[in-house]
Amino acid sequence: MTNQPKPILVGFLKTPGDSRVCILPKETKRIVSELKWTVLIESGIGDSLGISDAEYEETGASAASREEIFASAMYVISLDHVYKEEEIQEGTHFIGIFNPLFYRNRLVSYEKNKLTVSSLDLLPRTTLAQSMDVLSSMASLAGYRAVIKAAALFNGILPMFTTAAGTITPAKVLILGAGVAGLQAIATARRLGAVVEAFDVRAAAGEEVRSLGATFVEVEGHQESESAGGYAVEQSEEYKAKQKELIHKHISSADIVISTANIPGRKAPLLIENRSVEAMKEGSIIIDLAAEQGGNCALSKNNETVTHKGVTIVGNSNLSAEIPAAASKLLSNNFFSFLKHMTKAQENDPLIEGSQIMFEGNYTHPRFIETQTN
Ligand code: NAI
Repeated sequence: MTNQPKPILVGFLKTPGDSRVCILPKETKRIVSELKWTVLIESGIGDSLGISDAEYEETGASAASREEIFASAMYVISLDHVYKEEEIQEGTHFIGIFNPLFYRNRLVSYEKNKLTVSSLDLLPRTTLAQSMDVLSSMASLAGYRAVIKAAALFNGILPMFTTAAGTITPAKVLILGAGVAGLQAIATARRLGAVVEAFDVRAAAGEEVRSLGATFVEVEGHQESESAGGYAVEQSEEYKAKQKELIHKHISSADIVISTANIPGRKAPLLIENRSVEAMKEGSIIIDLAAEQGGNCALSKNNETVTHKGVTIVGNSNLSAEIPAAASKLLSNNFFSFLKHMTKAQENDPLIEGSQIMFEGNYTHPRFIETQTN
């Protein structure tokens, strides 16, 4: 009898409360035909987008219950941490977007159950990783959506309007944090005709901001670190004090503020103080995309919209979920690219190692090794 290699079985789960879908039929077809893997999708996975199980099954995938997926899949893929302790099968490889630097407490059960866990938000931000970079694809959509949402909530308009009945001046939009989300927000607000200003602690962001037609608000004396991989680092107290005053001045005159400033694994920097919100005109809008990590605005509440002295503050770090068809398209491609990369990767692959938190219950990622409890 010849030894047949065991077929690779991958299962994709629904994320309760999230309309985004981690895999679409186009990519299940590619997993089946190109990677030659057996694919299970949780029954109803595409319901939120009007995609039936039958459409997935036409690509060669099979619909299954959550229990069946947990019982048989070697790789279990989901958008978020959607597992109950009792469902977890020892040795499974979980792949998803778990934000483990922020939610370290989630890792204990993975360790106990000797799982291998890869989180795509840990991927290095390199050219090689671009096709699987979930942070970039979701941040880009969130930046766009933030402006659309702000424009809809705002009681004025964004472009300049010249009519026989008079002229309306363009809205002033301030973007705090000019990373992936911030740059997309700048581009969107500019396309809608707003006057846009942006601020970031990374000096390199200045050129990108200006190239999109916005003004870069500069604070002198910032610190950068080459070892931070392009991310922002904590700033000195003196810098923070100067920044506070300048940002306060710019917020006071803005109609819309979109804040996106984050430092990976840390609480988000506080950039919008109470006094700044109170200095804004009634009817102004703040969209805080950093709400999940504590928020850039002192008054924002995660996953809530609050009003303070006539200013509406939206605390939402997951705005891509409000445009689930577009988000699912990008996510499905991100996950497929990662799986395809897994099939080709050699030992010590920087993307596989960079995204892997633990292997069979033992931490492998340098940022978590000290976490090991046994
Ligand atoms: P992020 O989501 O961690 O932070 C968003 C922005 O907030 C960043 O631009 C950061 O500098 C800024 N920020 C942090 N603290 C701040 C403060 N106190 N005040 C003002 N701004 C503050 O970053 P994101 O958007 O994920 O991008 C991180 C870096 O990775 C960027 O340099 C980006 O260009 C780079 N990148 C590179 C890619 C590649 O393929 N080479 C792909 C994606 C991103």
